[in-house]
Amino acid sequence: MIFARKATTPSPAHAARLIGLGSYLPPQKVSNADLASRLDTTDEWIRTRIGVAERHIADPATATSDLAVEAGLRAMKSAEVEHVDAVIVATATPDHHVPGTAPLVAHQLGLRQIPAFDLSAGCSGFVYATTVAAGLIHAKTAGTVLVIGAEKMSAVIDPADRSTAPIFGDGAGAVVLTAGHADEPGALGPAAWGSDGEHADAICIPDGGSRRPSNPTDGVNDPYVRMKGNEVFRHAVRRISQVTQESAAAAGWAIQDIDRLIVHQANARISAAVANTLGIPTERVPSNIIHVGNTSAASIPLLLSHSAIDGQLKARQRVVVTSFGAGFTWAATTLLWPIDLQALA
Ligand code: UT7
Repeated sequence: MIFARKATTPSPAHAARLIGLGSYLPPQKVSNADLASRLDTTDEWIRTRIGVAERHIADPATATSDLAVEAGLRAMKSAEVEHVDAVIVATATPDHHVPGTAPLVAHQLGLRQIPAFDLSAGCSGFVYATTVAAGLIHAKTAGTVLVIGAEKMSAVIDPADRSTAPIFGDGAGAVVLTAGHADEPGALGPAAWGSDGEHADAICIPDGGSRRPSNPTDGVNDPYVRMKGNEVFRHAVRRISQVTQESAAAAGWAIQDIDRLIVHQANARISAAVANTLGIPTERVPSNIIHVGNTSAASIPLLLSHSAIDGQLKARQRVVVTSFGAGFTWAATTLLWPIDLQALA
């Protein structure tokens, strides 16, 4: 059984509006040559099958919250705000099972006593979190929300697994959303989202949760992401294409109206297949996977930030942001690109 929600349109008068954008990558880079020196793989295989040349990896002393704080600071500076009403951190790699990562981030940002919570939806986490934030703004529960996607994927990737180690990287990105009107630049439009837990084992960390608590003495201790790559690939192309169409249609946009499609950076061939399925020219589909790999929930805000900085996102463009990940989960939202947004990286 599939649980999916069709797109819902927020009232035209009251929508969430993007006013701040920031991102952070830890300084250390790992090249394909570095990986090939210890794994049975090659630079050529990784470039042609995934589209990645290098990825950023956090040092052992750095946790997801540290990456999130850096991105959050930049987003708040970009928005020129010193306070927000709530913080949501989308992550699959929290600092701890308990407590959540968001309260630590809010504390580090000096945002004392505001609501702060994590959202776990795999690589779709950031788009899910912006949808939740837009709902809070729409309901007037919060006026301004900081939404962060942050991952230390290197903490959950088996360094000896050649089917995952070349794909993933670490990083964080963040946006500040505030109340606005649906027809003004910066406004988020209708979101479409869904999930299908039938495929829960396609991307899964087997141990360390309540199903199989880590117990090294019983030999139960696999703390790493295990992925059925081909299955994930097929579903990703289908779901991303579908949810993009649903979100655009709910906004009243034809596919040809989309100026920029911001696709979760899972694999360059997934983005190409989605563009091909939808008939969107590849020059309208920005990409940064070659330099950052798949950063899971950080992928979308990192790509937004990098695309804004390199001039690929311009005022009033019609943008669709679209994602797919563990769960399976998928989500998309439309966005009118703001005027005068200074992204900071
Ligand atoms: O963010 C959401 C989560 N993740 C994704 O969306 C990832 C989705 N999946 C993928 O990106 C791709 O399925 C992978 C990159 C994981 C794998 O690419 P593929 O083209 O689907 O490769 P494959 O698994 O079908 O393997 C093809 C061949 C196999 O060899 P044989 O059996 O044909 O001899 C693999 O053993 O490539 C081999 N292979 C490798 N060779 C060199 C698999 N990994 C590697 C490697 N280096 N790293």
